[in-house]
Amino acid sequence: MKTALSFIITLCMTIPPVLFAQTTQPAARRAATPGEQWDQRFDRAMYLYGKEPVAFLKEKAGLLKKGKTLCLAAGEGRNAVYLAQQGFDVTALDASKKGLEKCTALAKQRGVTVKTIVADLSDYDMGKEQYDLITDFYYHDQKMFPKIMAALKPGGMFIMQNFSIDQPKTNRFGPKNPAYLVKPNEVLSHFSGYRILHYEDTVVNLDEGMHQGAGAVVRLIVVKEGVE
Ligand SMILES: C[S@@+](CC[C@H](N)C(=O)[O-])C[C@H]1O[C@@H](n2cnc3c(N)ncnc32)[C@H](O)[C@@H]1O
Repeated sequence: MKTALSFIITLCMTIPPVLFAQTTQPAARRAATPGEQWDQRFDRAMYLYGKEPVAFLKEKAGLLKKGKTLCLAAGEGRNAVYLAQQGFDVTALDASKKGLEKCTALAKQRGVTVKTIVADLSDYDMGKEQYDLITDFYYHDQKMFPKIMAALKPGGMFIMQNFSIDQPKTNRFGPKNPAYLVKPNEVLSHFSGYRILHYEDTVVNLDEGMHQGAGAVVRLIVVKEGVE
């Protein structure tokens, strides 16, 4: 008995404490994919960015091409549901299943239907000439732009509002990584071959859940119409 006890004591003294920590406390589960990261953020009853649409979308909804609509990075669905309420035929796409579940719940609350697709935009094929309208709010990846224009029908429209490179010095919320922020004239150079109906690089007052106060944004509406 005494021998067994002294063996255990010797063992305990030779195992580094860090190994104890690893074996006794389960490591916090790290989200591996964007979908998992956003599932964790959206896994609460409140809607992180509220239930009302981006003000710019609401302001411009009347001039947008009505029809088959794809809302990219739609999150909890506030913009997708708003468009469905205005009579658009909406599909909401996001990497977060949890976000899209909340989108479906919001659509039900408002008495409309929104189709959903769980997908990662970094490798999602949007197809060719499928949509009358594509929207993108607060998800910036300039590699998507050619895919978006290809996926629009002739005469179709793209509307976006994303944080500009000025956002980190304007307010605390929003991405810090410059790769996710719109640089001056960056979108103009991508869409110069199409008709740009609206372009603004500005600071606005945001009132949308986590986004409260000044926000430095780039706003764009482009039509799939060639220009000479
Ligand atoms: C700041 S939220 C904006 C949500 C929504 N557009 C809004 O304005 O309420 C960014 C969204 O991008 C989505 N997202 C991030 N990375 C993604 C990816 N690789 N593919 C698809 N969606 C992604 C997140 O799940 C999240 O819903």
